[in-house]
Amino acid sequence: MPLKLAVLGSGKGSNFVAIQKAILSGILAGKAQVVLVASDHADAGILDRAREFGLPWEALPQSAFKTKLEPEIEAGLASSIRRAGADLVVLAGYMRVLKAPLLEAFPERIVNIHPSLLPAFKGLEAWKQALAAGVPETGCTVHWVNVDLDGGDVLGRERVPILPGDTPETLHARIHEAEHRLYPAVIARLAVELGKV
Ligand code: GRF
Repeated sequence: MPLKLAVLGSGKGSNFVAIQKAILSGILAGKAQVVLVASDHADAGILDRAREFGLPWEALPQSAFKTKLEPEIEAGLASSIRRAGADLVVLAGYMRVLKAPLLEAFPERIVNIHPSLLPAFKGLEAWKQALAAGVPETGCTVHWVNVDLDGGDVLGRERVPILPGDTPETLHARIHEAEHRLYPAVIARLAVELGKV
């Protein structure tokens, strides 16, 4: 039985696309299945991509906050994820901090990808933080999600060199390429570890 994924995102959805492509013809074939794609922005690209793949999708009601959801909206999202039968919640560019309704509904079952080698450069625009710090390399990290922002146990990391002349855009693009390899690989491992394949 494949691992059933609920994917949450606020933006373009390139990580979601990488995961879905790996399901259709890559390392996640037979191992995972996307049962819901949800976004806090009705016009987010990730929902367009979900519709193109013919997958179930949901746009959340508009929130009065920017960085979190009202508890009742988040509880509604948790209900949708349960109804969809998801085993694992996959945050793919989801830009709001998770609160009790989701964290308590899916303990140890929510993963996130962050564009740095955690614990370095937590928070927003981590690639810019890395450039400003002058470090020779950065990368991306997949980790469990808990109440500590970008602080849950690490599931996998990929290193990305910082090259002479890198701009925030070129560096972020190189990190994205690494993310698109790392996220499907970690989910494939979790499908085995969680006993689904
Ligand atoms: C990625 O850089 C990810 O690390 C961060 O948000 C971005 C999402 O990009 N959490 P996309 O929407 O998957 O293209």
